[in-house]
Amino acid sequence: MNVLVTGGAGYIGSHVLKALDEKGFNIIVYDNLSKGHEEAVLAGKLIIGDLEDEDLLNRVFRDNKIDAVMHFAAFIEVGESVKEPLKYYQNNTANTINLLKIMGNNDVNKFIFSSTAAVYGNPETVPIPETESIKPINPYGQSKAFVEKVLEDSSKAKDFKYVSLRYFNAAGADPLGRIGESHNPETHLIPLILKTAKGERESIKIFGIDYPTPDGTCIRDYIHVDDLADIHVRALEHLLNGGESDVFNCGYGYGYSVKEVVETAKKVTEIDFKVEEAPRREGDPAILVADSTKLKTKFGWIPKYNDLEYIIQTAWNWELNKRF
Ligand SMILES: NC(=O)c1ccc[n+]([C@@H]2O[C@H](COP(=O)([O-])OP(=O)(O)OC[C@H]3O[C@@H](n4cnc5c(N)ncnc54)[C@H](O)[C@@H]3O)[C@@H](O)[C@H]2O)c1
Repeated sequence: MNVLVTGGAGYIGSHVLKALDEKGFNIIVYDNLSKGHEEAVLAGKLIIGDLEDEDLLNRVFRDNKIDAVMHFAAFIEVGESVKEPLKYYQNNTANTINLLKIMGNNDVNKFIFSSTAAVYGNPETVPIPETESIKPINPYGQSKAFVEKVLEDSSKAKDFKYVSLRYFNAAGADPLGRIGESHNPETHLIPLILKTAKGERESIKIFGIDYPTPDGTCIRDYIHVDDLADIHVRALEHLLNGGESDVFNCGYGYGYSVKEVVETAKKVTEIDFKVEEAPRREGDPAILVADSTKLKTKFGWIPKYNDLEYIIQTAWNWELNKRF
């Protein structure tokens, strides 16, 4: 089976390549390396190209007899999306629609989509079920919500099947230390904390200590990137076995507060780095935790790495010995 993985040189995509390779899939990675890293592609053939390059994409489909597409390529910074919405609607929404058109022209009808908990905005029910209303509060979340709607409508209109995976907070790294998170700029909490522990940053800021949570700081559902990778393989097998289109939350079903993450990082690194308290940031919901019951019942998914210390330990090993 030939799987096209867009954005496979990025953080999550590169971990999924390992999981696909272990299962014997033939992988074609398509990435413009704007944010990704060639060294992160541990399996498959890398084609350097942009989603906007229709001619190249068409050729990739024609030359490789693609059976299914996993689509990770996107911009991911919420703050930037507020300042430059068109950049996000172009790359995350318009380019995805283009990719879907090219898939259709080449008779490929199976699609796994990297969606996000950001489609829920400020949810009313926590843990959040997939049935929660879609009310994104920033262009990043909206750019993904638009795609989810396009997918839903396409699957109703044509013989087209998709699985949308709404990731909560992907974290951690390859246990063997070969790949890990390397975003530039980095905006995610765990790598920022570890860069502080390493001495690359002076302090870590906690934005908001007056949220309605037990210790007053925001709570998030951190899922190890290899558990996330496993979910992708299950979603792909589901579609290849004739399964129906569906949407799943990807998280463990419980979360940790920013203060708990900081304390765990101090324990793992054995470094007492500087922590500063700062006012709340606009648009940060107090609690984002997935109800992942559906994933467990429908895919029989059992998390393997749901241990915050382990997640931070793998991220710390990577941070200390980064290759890119
Ligand atoms: N990291 C998270 O916690 C998280 C949470 C929710 C959803 N997501 C989604 O998961 C996906 C992957 O996230 P990530 O953290 O691995 O990001 P990443 O930036 O590490 O990976 C994205 C990859 O896509 C490539 N890319 C971007 N635009 C492209 C284009 N026009 N043409 C070709 N390649 C292009 C980049 O070079 C990069 O390698 C994204 O769609 C993101 O929205 C991530």
